[in-house]
Amino acid sequence: MTHDLRILVPEDAIRTRVAALAAELATVLNGVSPLVVGLLDGAFVFTADLVRELARRQVPARVTFMSLASYGRSTRSRGTVTVIRDCAPDEVRQRTVLLVDDILDSGATLQFAHARLIAFGAARVITCVLLDKPSRRRVSFTPDFIGFTIPDAFAVGYGLDHAGEYRGLPWVATLPEGTP
Ligand code: IMP
Ligand code: MG
Repeated sequence: MTHDLRILVPEDAIRTRVAALAAELATVLNGVSPLVVGLLDGAFVFTADLVRELARRQVPARVTFMSLASYGRSTRSRGTVTVIRDCAPDEVRQRTVLLVDDILDSGATLQFAHARLIAFGAARVITCVLLDKPSRRRVSFTPDFIGFTIPDAFAVGYGLDHAGEYRGLPWVATLPEGTP
């Protein structure tokens, strides 16, 4: 099914903001090379752009991914988080970890991933999300870095999907209200 999408964050705005985030992260990291942990599937595009902007600023990073699930086909969270693909505790131990996700919604996913990385022995976990929907928060979790704060609409594109579609769009768009 195709939807009547509305552009919410255009491509050039994303590029500019990702570069600015990388510059801020470079300052905070202060010479430390992080282990970047991207959350699949949604954060694959943001993670890819962010690590290249970090490399441009002389911040080399290792990159790995975790895959967590909190959503079925619908646009509402089920609230429980399960691990589909884990990252290696050995890689995490004593590292400065940069945890990257596409969007912070209820907060359950990022809170779960953060706690897991701490349990694996990370020295420090810095969290960075491209999009934040603060109106939908159910757990109190404040990310360290946010690309854009957006209203309560279902976002697709730049890695984010709806029922598996739209991840390849170079911009962030919203689905019409009332989409199941
Ligand atoms: P949370 O656990 O409720 O914070 O949900 C976070 C996860 O749900 C993200 O990693 C996304 O994959 C997905 N998600 C939440 N809101 C949206 C959205 O508007 N569009 C696409 N995926 C979303
Ligand atoms: Mg996701």
